[in-house]
Amino acid sequence: MPSRGNKSVKPWHGTNNSQVPVLITFLILILVVSILFFHNIGEKPSSSFRIPKQTWNSSEYPVQFHPNVEFRNGTDLIWQIPDSPKAVLFLAHGCNGRAVNFWDRSPSCPNCIGLPEERLIVLHALARKFAVLTISSAGRCWSFGEERLIIKGIIRWWVEKNKIEKLPLVALGASSGGYFVSVLATDLRFGSITLMIAEGMFDQMDITKDYPPTLFVHMPKDRYRKVKIDENMEALRNKGIDVAEIKCIEFPLSPSFLADRIPGLDRTISSKLFELFRDKGFIDKNGYMRNDGRAIRWKAALRENKIILPEKHLDHHITEELNLAFAYHEMTSLQSGPIFDWFESHMH
Ligand SMILES: *[C@@H]1O[C@H](CO)[C@@H](O)[C@H](O)[C@H]1NC(C)=O
Ligand SMILES: *[C@@H]1O[C@H](CO)[C@@H](O)[C@H](O)[C@H]1NC(C)=O
Repeated sequence: MPSRGNKSVKPWHGTNNSQVPVLITFLILILVVSILFFHNIGEKPSSSFRIPKQTWNSSEYPVQFHPNVEFRNGTDLIWQIPDSPKAVLFLAHGCNGRAVNFWDRSPSCPNCIGLPEERLIVLHALARKFAVLTISSAGRCWSFGEERLIIKGIIRWWVEKNKIEKLPLVALGASSGGYFVSVLATDLRFGSITLMIAEGMFDQMDITKDYPPTLFVHMPKDRYRKVKIDENMEALRNKGIDVAEIKCIEFPLSPSFLADRIPGLDRTISSKLFELFRDKGFIDKNGYMRNDGRAIRWKAALRENKIILPEKHLDHHITEELNLAFAYHEMTSLQSGPIFDWFESHMH
């Protein structure tokens, strides 16, 4: 940018020779930094991007599942309150989800399923001293009429019964649960909310200044949703509401990936699956998924190759992790650190 009119700034051609190598070095440095920068905000992370091994080690984090299960207003509630909780988190699943997906099977919840991403969100929450309440939707997905009143009533009743009604209340909803939480935020006072892989229902609501700070955790590969989220963030910001986003991008599978994230799936079967996916072309030569886990016929390939999962229900767990790696539309716990930082920074 030439600064004409400002005589005190030396123009370019005024540099003496001894400064030229410095300037060239400087320019090269800028070039390198910009290449690195633009490379990093591209869709693909570098192949050295490592996904944490995170089935959760309870000797490192003193958190264990011992949830309470109860029925109320025709639906099931599963919840756990850590010692000295500092906040309350309501979690809303997506379509086809249930409260049982968030918790590992245990004597206190024999029907629990513990999907890998859901369970890790709960473990993170408990480790950070959030009381966690999960409720199943009445239908396949959440609805936006009477169900809002029922859930509002359940949450109010539950926090009072457990004497934690004074604690800050936050919510995280994924997909259908994200739409639901975006609307529920007009019925209940949340300290902040996280909408995961959901743009929210903002085109159908009147948003006021006291709408809670909203974090969008999304997968920009879903371009349609990304555009909607950009619009909604802009609209919320214009109303003076604090908004932020976390973008989740695809990453490559490794032989140990499934074992690292799914309890009950060992490394042998994990690397067998990895090899099969590579042989079948489900993943490319760098390990990236070529399509969504729901779209590829990996279960048929397993049968054809006589690979037997240790437990039948693990196929949901595997599909979830494949969807996560493809990064188009899936629940994710990978961003739990920043998500809970967001909740904690909006709790006063
Ligand atoms: C869990 O953490 C402990 C302590 O850091 C370590 O000794 C142990 O090997 C870990 N277990 C697993 C399964 O990673
Ligand atoms: C939920 O159940 C409680 C107790 O049975 C009842 O008092 C309350 O009215 C119900 N709420 C709704 C919205 O139906």
